[in-house]
Amino acid sequence: MITVALPKGRLAQEAARLFINSSLTTIDIIQETRKLIIEDESSNIRFLMVKPFDVPTYVEYGIADMGIVGKDVLLEQGKKVYELLDLGIGKCFIALAGPKGMKEELLNKSEKTIATKFPNITKEYFENVLGEDVQIIKLNGSVELAPILGLSDMIVDIVESGRTLRENGLEVYEKLYDVSARLIINRASLKLKNKIEVIVNHLERMVMQ
Ligand code: PRP
Repeated sequence: MITVALPKGRLAQEAARLFINSSLTTIDIIQETRKLIIEDESSNIRFLMVKPFDVPTYVEYGIADMGIVGKDVLLEQGKKVYELLDLGIGKCFIALAGPKGMKEELLNKSEKTIATKFPNITKEYFENVLGEDVQIIKLNGSVELAPILGLSDMIVDIVESGRTLRENGLEVYEKLYDVSARLIINRASLKLKNKIEVIVNHLERMVMQ
């Protein structure tokens, strides 16, 4: 049995569809949204529905043999997993953003405060790329609220359509990294389980189309 950790939330449908469209499962994983473990006995694949930030943890510890997760999460966590495939779904980017029209003023400010779900990416960017110390405030979501309410000067966050920024009076100041969903594999599973290669090949063919 191969165990696959799939991310709940915005990537869930596209990730599940990859397995269905590449004929790796006949089970409608997308419909079974409340079940956290979905087993397909005919293909010997078991799907775990986990929070995106937890996918690398399940894979690193070998509870899942493989998983689908955004490059943003991988960059933030630096877990010990193999990143085998860019799946070409969930495309977005990580940006430094802030109130519209205030880019120059805020970037020139001496003591900046940044709210983010990605403290490591933020620290790395400011320290290594810009050579600056910043105060980082870790939030778990709705990060755009922080500069509006004065909790931070700017944010580092995911931008997909740009709508959340626009509707909250914010704009992109700098684009930091492109993001897409990746297929990650547990190191031991890759060596021990032959079926992993079959699944990877199926997914690779699907992605190439
Ligand atoms: C993400 C991200 C932005 C938004 C960007 O949040 O943190 O808030 O999506 O998407 P857009 O550019 O298409 O508007 P998500 O919806 O995952 O929820 P969260 O705020 O709880 O993290």
